[in-house]
Amino acid sequence: MKLYNVKKNSTTISYAGVLEKVEIMRSTLRWAPKLERADIQKLLNQCNTLRDEVMQLSHKERFVKASTTTVSAKSKSEAERRQALIERSFVYDGVFGENPKLLEALEIAERAAPTDLPVLIDGESGTGKELMAKVIHANGSRADKVYVSVNCGAIPDNLLESELFGHKKGAFTGATGDRKGKFESANGGTIFLDEIGELPLQSQVKLLRVLQSNEIQRVGSDDLIQVDARVVAATNRNLRQLSQQGAFREDLFYRLDVIHVTVPPLRERKDEIPLLYEYFLVEAAERLNRAPLKMSVALRNFLAKYDYPGNIRELSNIIYRLSCLADDTAGLEHLPTELRPAGAVTSKKQAADTVIASGTLSDMKKEASDSAEKQFLEHGLQEVGGKVAELARRIEMNRSHLQTLLKKHGISSKDYRTKTSDKS
Ligand SMILES: Nc1ncnc2c1ncn2[C@@H]1O[C@H](COP(=O)(O)OP(=O)(O)OP(=O)(O)O)[C@@H](O)[C@H]1O
Ligand SMILES: [Mg+2]
Repeated sequence: MKLYNVKKNSTTISYAGVLEKVEIMRSTLRWAPKLERADIQKLLNQCNTLRDEVMQLSHKERFVKASTTTVSAKSKSEAERRQALIERSFVYDGVFGENPKLLEALEIAERAAPTDLPVLIDGESGTGKELMAKVIHANGSRADKVYVSVNCGAIPDNLLESELFGHKKGAFTGATGDRKGKFESANGGTIFLDEIGELPLQSQVKLLRVLQSNEIQRVGSDDLIQVDARVVAATNRNLRQLSQQGAFREDLFYRLDVIHVTVPPLRERKDEIPLLYEYFLVEAAERLNRAPLKMSVALRNFLAKYDYPGNIRELSNIIYRLSCLADDTAGLEHLPTELRPAGAVTSKKQAADTVIASGTLSDMKKEASDSAEKQFLEHGLQEVGGKVAELARRIEMNRSHLQTLLKKHGISSKDYRTKTSDKS
């Protein structure tokens, strides 16, 4: 849906341009042959200060436009802001209430959507980053064009470049024909680069080139191909910090982080919980072909207060589980054992009794399978010295899914780290 007729925002473009110049200056200085080391260091420090000033300035500039709507928005109540989004036909494939943090994220996404500027979305696992990326696509001028999603954390390093940029026949063993990459497939539309923090440094250089020149080169080919893909990236890591530590290219970080959207964790928007569980109760009922489940008051109270380390995905999983296991009305006893508040069920035996009393063999099977899953993960982490990425690779599981499972079982990978493991 096209909401505004916004062309490129010149303020933001000049901001990106200035930053780029600073970056070029820094890399030139880094390699200036005739300067003494101390001079280089001094100049680099000056550049760093300059860059920080620009960042602060640009932050103000970036939001000048948004705040002209939100100045009135500031004087508006959250209910009015929410209503205003709905009236502007804001496309959102989920529900949202009146939480100020979420409203702010949605308003930024709405303003960013019709532009072609890169957007970097961050937030914990399961908060709705991918949903936000789709929102940006769906509310922009490319809504009727293709949306291509790539999970940078799930593709082995040696295949990543071919996946993103394509390859030429014979470029490597197994390259039996020419192949288009995701960037080419996303031409005219949006490319969503999920888990961008997992992109190896070598591929980061290539991505930077695409962002600078809108050109790609298939692996094994010298030909340059023009691509026009709007880039939206997401991460659950602190990319700024990673770039300061040298684990992520700083110039790429600034290229991607033109518009920044932070999706707040569910524990910081608990007021949205009832709305969300009602949404999932209806969704689960449709999927499971049953009447929407009712929930006891105790269960509703528990759900409203729980912290959800796995965020919205965890809440959704709980509701699907309840909708599957309970008959007409669910109570605390239908929660997974590890979530059940003390007092609801006091011992394992009682838990088993409760399950047997309510006649749900599937519940017992689920508990056994949960326990096996937990043991499997603990054992796996032990074997790889706490390296989550390595475990994900070995068991061929998406890394963020693995992180969610670890959270679900309350397992901390740090507890399994050996001295030689440097990265989780
Ligand atoms: N406001 C919402 N309303 C309804 N469903 C939502 C909302 N936000 C998120 N969801 C759902 O929660 C689940 C998790 O969202 P999503 O996959 O976008 O999270 P994520 O941040 O990308 O997670 P990860 O970091 O694990 O990849 C999805 O099924 C999504 O549809
Ligand atoms: Mg995701």
